[in-house]
Amino acid sequence: MKVFIRKNYDEMSRYAAEIIVDLIKTKPNCVIGLATGGTPIGTYRELADFHRKGLDMSKVKTFNLDEYLGIGIDMKKSYESDQSYARFMYEELFKHVNIKKENIHIPNGLSKNPDKFCQWYEDEIKKAGGIDLQILGIGGNGHWAFNEPGASLYSRTRVEPLTKQTLDDNYDAFYKKAGIKRDKMPHFAITMGIGTILEARNLLMIANGKKKAKVVARALEGSVTSQVTASAIQLHSGESMVVLDKEASTELKNIEHYKHVEKILSIRSKNNQKISSDSSTV
Ligand code: PGA
Repeated sequence: MKVFIRKNYDEMSRYAAEIIVDLIKTKPNCVIGLATGGTPIGTYRELADFHRKGLDMSKVKTFNLDEYLGIGIDMKKSYESDQSYARFMYEELFKHVNIKKENIHIPNGLSKNPDKFCQWYEDEIKKAGGIDLQILGIGGNGHWAFNEPGASLYSRTRVEPLTKQTLDDNYDAFYKKAGIKRDKMPHFAITMGIGTILEARNLLMIANGKKKAKVVARALEGSVTSQVTASAIQLHSGESMVVLDKEASTELKNIEHYKHVEKILSIRSKNNQKISSDSSTV
């Protein structure tokens, strides 16, 4: 696991976007797992900026982590549907870049048979060749996607009830602003499982703000537990990257080590660039 600490939200967002752009440049038909919430908005804004400056995303495939059950892509006129993650993704990313509609996958909150849908979603991820890079936030209760405390670390895509804390957090962040009553908010969601997420070849977790400092430290440096499902990052066998702003990093114990690793990695990558331009070196 590599932890990168940036000065503020904007720099965190830029750095996260650069990691995504590097992947798209080396593998234009990559599969990216997308997250919603307040945290990735800046990253998506930066991606849109890269696109305006020439980044082609026409071959990229995407799979979103989750969606509320009962709202979604077809309910354009309903009040509640304004808060669907499908709409969020359209507003924050898809309308600004050239990802093709047929390459976008978001759990269908309006499915008539959600359990069957969840199996279909898992199959689609496999058919696409698996996820190359999964973007993740972290909830106030340590959740990844809507894998609430107690969710199995082997879980797959399924319907999950939301905790009171998640409802409170998301109500304040999104629903309240839109003037929607609390009892109109969906209490269930379709979510990729922790087992599904851990199969992504690379993870990119982002977090910002003082409010997240304790839970970030708990996930990265505490014991692995289903009570903090993001702690499953410690079980990931591929490359896991965590990009934080300074405020979200303040409770980390190993901060000096993370900074040291970043420094030696950048020295190594500079040396590698020199080496790769010298064809006689093995
Ligand atoms: P946030 O949510 O980005 O709105 O803080 C993160 C999450 O719940 O995963």
